[in-house]
Amino acid sequence: MSARHFLTLLDFSSSELEQLIARASELRQMQHRGEIYEPLKNQVLAMVFEKSSTRTRISFEAGMAQFGGHAIFLSPQGTQIGRGEPIEDTARVMSRMVDGIMVRTFEHSKLETFAAHSQVPVINALTDDYHPCQLLADVQAFSEARGSIQGATVTWIGDGNNMCHSYINAARQFGFQLNIACPEGYEPKADILEAAGDAARIVRDPVEAARDAQLVTTDVWASMGQEEEQKLREQAFARYQVDDRVMQAADNDALFMHCLPAHRGEEVSASVIDGPQSIVWDQAENRLHAQKALLETLMAPR
Ligand code: CP
Ligand code: NVA
Repeated sequence: MSARHFLTLLDFSSSELEQLIARASELRQMQHRGEIYEPLKNQVLAMVFEKSSTRTRISFEAGMAQFGGHAIFLSPQGTQIGRGEPIEDTARVMSRMVDGIMVRTFEHSKLETFAAHSQVPVINALTDDYHPCQLLADVQAFSEARGSIQGATVTWIGDGNNMCHSYINAARQFGFQLNIACPEGYEPKADILEAAGDAARIVRDPVEAARDAQLVTTDVWASMGQEEEQKLREQAFARYQVDDRVMQAADNDALFMHCLPAHRGEEVSASVIDGPQSIVWDQAENRLHAQKALLETLMAPR
């Protein structure tokens, strides 16, 4: 199957990612000017959601509509996926009918299997291991606020989860230094961290990790699928809140980001997420523009 997929940030080269971020900013300006641009007229994106979503669903669906195409929302309950139809068969059939497929699921291997049996581009809209679309929006938001992220120091505070893994890949691809502050037992996967070499390192203490950073970012303590660990995780992560003390250790003009949804009083204080250094709303909006750039790259006729 020859279709090009976007399963992790490593599927694109550094220069392709840089171009995509620049294009995302252009598309943002075009959208703000009210310019009509329909490169995906008559094209259809299937959106498979095995987990909940606000931002991802709306941004892909709105993006397809703005591009002159159409998006179909599919849930396990409403399809044969929830009744056990093999994922390989679902991918084969779906990809004969639509022009692109976006998948949010649990095991990353399931997404890889899906992509291996799809003849159209497959986009990772979050798995247990990665959330690359979010990183496109994050890098775009940083670049728009501060210029290139290359050479910056970025601090990840919290769980070594799917977002953390994608930050590690982003550190490799965009050339920034990533400091990761996580409690013992909640580290990112060793192979993903090791593959980043010097670009990413664990610095246990959150204040130490934030020192001189230009960007501080975090995520929920319990991800989707880990709801029953919430109480346990609240104890393990109690010292890992991004609060004013952490932000004071960072650069004076450091930015704060969060992929959302956020839990004020847990992984971030209200003073930080609702404070002047937070750019979470621009970051969230950029999901739309960055994914439009991605859809255009993967699906627009050349
Ligand atoms: N950040 C993010 O992916 O949000 P949703 O889960 O609402 O899509
Ligand atoms: N780590 C979170 C991100 C949500 C966008 C989760 O997987 O639930």
